[in-house]
Amino acid sequence: MIVEADLLIHSAAQVVTCASDVPKRGAAMQDVGLISDGAVVVNDGRILAIGPTESIRERYSAGQTINASGKVVCPGFVDPHTHVVYAGDRIDEFEQRIRGATYMEIMAAGGGIVSTMHATRNASVEELVEATLPRLAQMLRLGTITAEVKTGYGLDLDSELKMLEAIAALDLAQPIDLVPTFMPAHAVPPEFNGRSAAYVEWVINEMIPAAAEWYKNSHFVADGRPLFCDVFCEQNAFDLEQSRRVLAAGLEHGLPAKIHADEFTSLGGVELAVDLGATSVDHLDVTTAEDIALLADSDVVGIVLPAVNFNLGSNEFADARALVDAGVAVALSTDINPGSAPCPSQPLVLALATRYQRLLPAEAFNAATINAAYGVGLADRVGSLSPGKQADLLLLNCTDFRQVTYQFGGNLVEMVVKNGRIL
Ligand code: NIG
Ligand code: FE
Repeated sequence: MIVEADLLIHSAAQVVTCASDVPKRGAAMQDVGLISDGAVVVNDGRILAIGPTESIRERYSAGQTINASGKVVCPGFVDPHTHVVYAGDRIDEFEQRIRGATYMEIMAAGGGIVSTMHATRNASVEELVEATLPRLAQMLRLGTITAEVKTGYGLDLDSELKMLEAIAALDLAQPIDLVPTFMPAHAVPPEFNGRSAAYVEWVINEMIPAAAEWYKNSHFVADGRPLFCDVFCEQNAFDLEQSRRVLAAGLEHGLPAKIHADEFTSLGGVELAVDLGATSVDHLDVTTAEDIALLADSDVVGIVLPAVNFNLGSNEFADARALVDAGVAVALSTDINPGSAPCPSQPLVLALATRYQRLLPAEAFNAATINAAYGVGLADRVGSLSPGKQADLLLLNCTDFRQVTYQFGGNLVEMVVKNGRIL
């Protein structure tokens, strides 16, 4: 008996599934679940079946078919760490850095995150949405179909809630599924200069409860998407104890934890993430061997962000090779933001990770799909081509998925399919 479905994509040179019931680690990261001459069947916006074209065609037909010969079919990319919602830009700081200033010097002088905070406080929800839509459109063209998005440029109650409103509006206004993260502890705002302890109290007692209340009434709850809580655990930002208190308060209010740790200084953020059962620990540029072992032993996803190092002109990258070899579930992300990484492109991140972090093409692919989905708590619905999951997939204009890491600076994404619909 032939089953009738909505869409059948067949004859793909390769179907790359990235399927896994658990975050991929170690040798499993080298397996992308490759099917040569593959086919994918979609019904009702979900994946119904995957397999070799011949056997799929014996069992399924569809109203719409796509001949994918000469193409690769793969899951849409998941970008698990972004600050894509902001107003203004930091082109002047970019030039200051070219002239020799460092990211941390600019931040200590009141620029950096705080400069984007001023622009963001002055923008309305509508203006934030207008400024962000073109960036999300670029990400989509480059293959990202799910993205986490942080607040953290408001740094007062109204402006942080305004950022959450903008994220919710953006989620409904364009195809990328957004996963919100509340991050009032991204920097100490100027009105709390020298009083970071008081700001942390304010975050814990006022802001996190308000965000949890906002979340309860948002469409994200109905859709089963979490609201995460994140903190920048770093010198001149929040120390380890402050980070612990912020994340613990988030957890108390039902917000799972993420943490920016070991970007410039190792303050113990990895141990904290493991201790609290965080969903992810992000950056990991200066993580110690001891902490790598600790992380490998945990369920916390390690998210590395090589576009940051590249953008800051550094030749030191997180040791993703050591992380994978130790058994950490590694994910990759752009960290798109106006300061440390104005980069919408997961394919460029894969290109960087395979060169500067010596990840194999297959490892990088899994890191930007299935492991990234685990890193945002949505692996039950995105991140791989598996029956039952959302039909979020890409047609790539190449016959070997490794081309996506081998080439850089262009765009091999030829077609984006979201919930079974061709965009
Ligand atoms: O992930 N490190 C802290 N936050 C961002 C940078 C944000 C900014 O510079 O505006 C990051 O790199
Ligand atoms: Fe970040």
